[in-house]
Amino acid sequence: MTRNSREESAAPTRGDALLRVEGFSLDLAPGREYLSVLNDIDLEVRSGEVVGLVGESGSGKSTLAMSLMGLVPKRISRQRSGRILFNGVDVTALRERDLRAIRGRDVGMIFQEPMTALDPAYRVGDQVAEVIRRHRGVSRAEARAQVIEDFRLVEISDPERRADAYPHELSGGLRQRVCIAMAIACRPSLLIADEPTTALDVTTQAQILELLRRLRAEMDMSIVLISHDLAVIAEFCDRVLVMYAGQIMEQAMIDPFFVRPRHPYASALLQALPENQPPLNELSVLPGSPPPLGYVAPGCRFANRCEFAQAGRCDTHAVSLSPTDAGEVRCIRADELVLEGAGQ
Ligand SMILES: Nc1ncnc2c1ncn2[C@@H]1O[C@H](COP(=O)(O)OP(=O)(O)OP(=O)(O)O)[C@@H](O)[C@H]1O
Ligand SMILES: [Mg+2]
Repeated sequence: MTRNSREESAAPTRGDALLRVEGFSLDLAPGREYLSVLNDIDLEVRSGEVVGLVGESGSGKSTLAMSLMGLVPKRISRQRSGRILFNGVDVTALRERDLRAIRGRDVGMIFQEPMTALDPAYRVGDQVAEVIRRHRGVSRAEARAQVIEDFRLVEISDPERRADAYPHELSGGLRQRVCIAMAIACRPSLLIADEPTTALDVTTQAQILELLRRLRAEMDMSIVLISHDLAVIAEFCDRVLVMYAGQIMEQAMIDPFFVRPRHPYASALLQALPENQPPLNELSVLPGSPPPLGYVAPGCRFANRCEFAQAGRCDTHAVSLSPTDAGEVRCIRADELVLEGAGQ
């Protein structure tokens, strides 16, 4: 299988920034009012790198993923600041037509629920062929041949028969494999996988992650993997980004992060990993809850739940990201604290 969709864009070499998000803030309007959902997001994904994005439900992970692909509808959103540079091009400034050309071709996306991406009324093979035809302008027969080849690549057995199935005729694991085939059909340089295994049983989950790992190595893609499961991120990613209430609280290389997280929220997440819990005990969940959508605290957003917060220091001024040995952290006490990691 060749990577033949990159002739038009100058392919970056390994280690270059493929994606760079700079000071990106986005408001959404669930009702009449706009509320702040993403705040001052800075991140970078280098060519060939696998980056994990973790955070509690509602922290903005999917909104960020959708923003990267220009998929947040304009009528319910307002960008307050920043840029999202993909291969040096600001996708926030592109028209829908140009965005559509990038989506699927240069950036592929796998959604949490496979049925989001699949139309129940069409055969799965035809749906994947449609993506190939849209971006490559090949004949029906050529597209069909590639679908079969790609179904083999994502380890769908009996691909000719499966290609003629409707989504509801396939198991959850097979549907997710079809979605992966669709996402990689044009050999994107970046794959965004939003909770790709959450809806699957543990065995299928492991198989899908193994498949992604293999594809990544064979195709040399960058991957952004969104998961609320730090164990999955530990196993799969080179680097992790921790989100809380619409902000990146910490970003770090995986190994040092697990041994010595620098943000109290990251440390709390690591403490809650099942292997740190005594058996048959309830999982230690973080006390308190994240701020309501749109509420902007005067100081650190995590201060009201943080066991290390100091009144008059942590709750007065917004905190910016500062460099650490392994990445960056948004905590003014980071250098004073020695926080617990995931244990051994
Ligand atoms: N289309 C929308 N309109 C208005 N508000 C939205 C919309 N989509 C998401 N939100 C809100 O934005 C916030 C962030 O949601 P998002 O889905 O990005 O979080 P998440 O981190 O992906 O959560 P989860 O882990 O549950 O998938 C939530 O409070 C959500 O209610
Ligand atoms: Mg989500």
